[in-house]
Amino acid sequence: LTLAVLISGAGSNLRALLEAASHPDYPARVVVVGADREAEGLAHAEEFGIPTFTVPWAAHTSREAWGEEVAAQLDVWNPDLIVLSGLMRLLPAAVVARYAPRIINTHPAYLPEFPGAHGVRDALAAGAEQTGASIIVIDDGVDSGPILAQERVAVLPGDTEAALHDRIKPVERRLLIDVVRRIATGELALTR
Ligand code: GRF
Repeated sequence: LTLAVLISGAGSNLRALLEAASHPDYPARVVVVGADREAEGLAHAEEFGIPTFTVPWAAHTSREAWGEEVAAQLDVWNPDLIVLSGLMRLLPAAVVARYAPRIINTHPAYLPEFPGAHGVRDALAAGAEQTGASIIVIDDGVDSGPILAQERVAVLPGDTEAALHDRIKPVERRLLIDVVRRIATGELALTR
């Protein structure tokens, strides 16, 4: 199974996928990594010799124009699966429609709790005693697609957003690597 991974930040989930995919018995490989900015995580792709592209959000006048450029880049590689892993942008509806259901997303909360760009912060603000990590299929909503995997993560007294996010990320990475494996083997079918 060929993967395109889209990021905006540190790319720790990307790195986990790259490491997993470097094992010969893992049934998926990353063929390209894209970002909406000069993301630090692109360095992981370079370290693993994976091609990258950047479509700067700031360089486009609309979400649609930005999305079309991202789609044009993806089409070069024609990946089997697109993994949004820390991409902090919503893909425009036309792009989702074109690739769905072959787009999955990692989210640092127990969806449908705390969707959106600040799931960790929102869980803390709500005083939640537990939150979680989720892997979902992207649909044309915000973190509203079918849930492929999720697991609870405890919120501890005194947690800062960073501390809680650091506790969530290893769970996210483990779920993502397992979900991609199960999609690659056909065990998990992607539906709209
Ligand atoms: C991850 O927790 C992801 O779910 C969220 O942002 C974080 C990105 O982390 N959208 P990284 O860039 O993979 O380190």
